Amino acid sequence: MSFLSLAKERFSTRDFLPKPIEEDKLLEILEAARISPSAVNRQPWHFIVVQDKNIKEKIVEAYPRDWFAKAPVYIIACGDHIESWKREDGKDYCDVDVSIAVTHIMLAATDLGLGTCYIGHFDADICRQALSLPKHIEPIAIIPLGYPAKKDSTKRFDTRRKAFNEIVHFDEYESKVEE
Ligand SMILES: Cc1cc2nc3c(=O)[nH]c(=O)nc-3n(C[C@H](O)[C@H](O)[C@H](O)COP(=O)(O)O)c2cc1C
Repeated sequence: MSFLSLAKERFSTRDFLPKPIEEDKLLEILEAARISPSAVNRQPWHFIVVQDKNIKEKIVEAYPRDWFAKAPVYIIACGDHIESWKREDGKDYCDVDVSIAVTHIMLAATDLGLGTCYIGHFDADICRQALSLPKHIEPIAIIPLGYPAKKDSTKRFDTRRKAFNEIVHFDEYESKVEE
């Protein structure tokens, strides 16, 4: 499959089958996260794989949605604010690095026929407590992982994304793409 086809296959999965994930697939997805690029190669991340019933229930408390509770596995992508690179003006690249790794996870999962959804709108305090995270480790994304119950159409990119000429600029911000 070409890269663009794979990228178009991915969609935010919000309905999962009650089917467990094979361990080799899970390990391949985590390997995709491990090799992700990061600022100054600091790799300021930890990936916590949650499969234990009790801890899963606590994660659901951090993002209480029926569809989310159906995922067989959660990966919590965490950033290490001590390890992360800070630019001279103070910008911390932690979230950027972790989010790139999450993209690797989502695309690797798609390649293996699995579904994911980037969850950012969760209660970070509940998540921290559930995973006993130290202060400098921030939960940045929760990724529910499982077999999708249904697929979204790649046609959505025609309507649910901004048009090329709204977002692509050549040489200068004010430049226009020829129609
Ligand atoms: C940083 C980030 C945070 C997101 N947080 C949530 C979330 O909390 N809950 C949710 O259902 N989807 C969340 N999403 C998924 C987006 O809603 C979704 O990617 C977008 O609507 C495009 O749809 P698609 O992923 O199916 O192409 C998030 C996506 C990103 C990139």
